[in-house]
Amino acid sequence: MARLLAFGGSLRRDSWNQKLVRIAAGGARSAGAEVTEIALRDYPLPVFDQDLEVEAGLPESALRLKELFRSHDGLLLACPEYNSSITAALKNTIDWVSRRAPGEEPLACFSGKVAVLMSASPGALGGLRGLVHVRAILGNIRVLVLPDQVAVSGAHEAFQENGALKDPQRQAAVENLGRELARVTARLHG
Ligand SMILES: Cc1cc2nc3c(=O)[nH]c(=O)nc-3n(C[C@H](O)[C@H](O)[C@H](O)COP(=O)(O)O)c2cc1C
Repeated sequence: MARLLAFGGSLRRDSWNQKLVRIAAGGARSAGAEVTEIALRDYPLPVFDQDLEVEAGLPESALRLKELFRSHDGLLLACPEYNSSITAALKNTIDWVSRRAPGEEPLACFSGKVAVLMSASPGALGGLRGLVHVRAILGNIRVLVLPDQVAVSGAHEAFQENGALKDPQRQAAVENLGRELARVTARLHG
């Protein structure tokens, strides 16, 4: 069974991306995966500062996130686009989680994981440009990022009250991302 960690790269309470990742998580569960959904706002982190790391070590939130990454085989990531790129919150999370605990192999929290990416934005491109950067970053830290992705444009009017997307084809496409991640991760890690 695939163990997947799901979160949006936003700290916003009513994040569209957090809603979107929940849909993909549903798809993954329907394919037999065990999914842990978290929100980054529950893991507050200072901006990464190497002096702070040397003086105080990893913050408690970073240690909790590292444990979550270590104990899951795949990542469902919904990534908001800020100024056509990755959000500071997501990059900061990656930076803290990438730091080695004593005795840990380099990139132990990322190496060999499988990820699928999606995005949502009120804009016309749905955050598509930011995914290019997230994909590159994750690939460079040894995460296998699946080729399929979905960018939901017009996010402010795309969701129903119950959290599903109004467009059934988009809903199915996002659920399929979750299913595909569950399938590939189970094949690689099962
Ligand atoms: C600093 C900043 C930069 C943004 N840049 C973009 C952008 O380049 N492209 C885009 O589609 N939306 C951009 N937006 C709008 C976000 O897509 C929007 O705030 C969205 O709600 C963020 O995702 P969330 O709802 O998951 O927090 C930007 C928002 C902020 C605050």
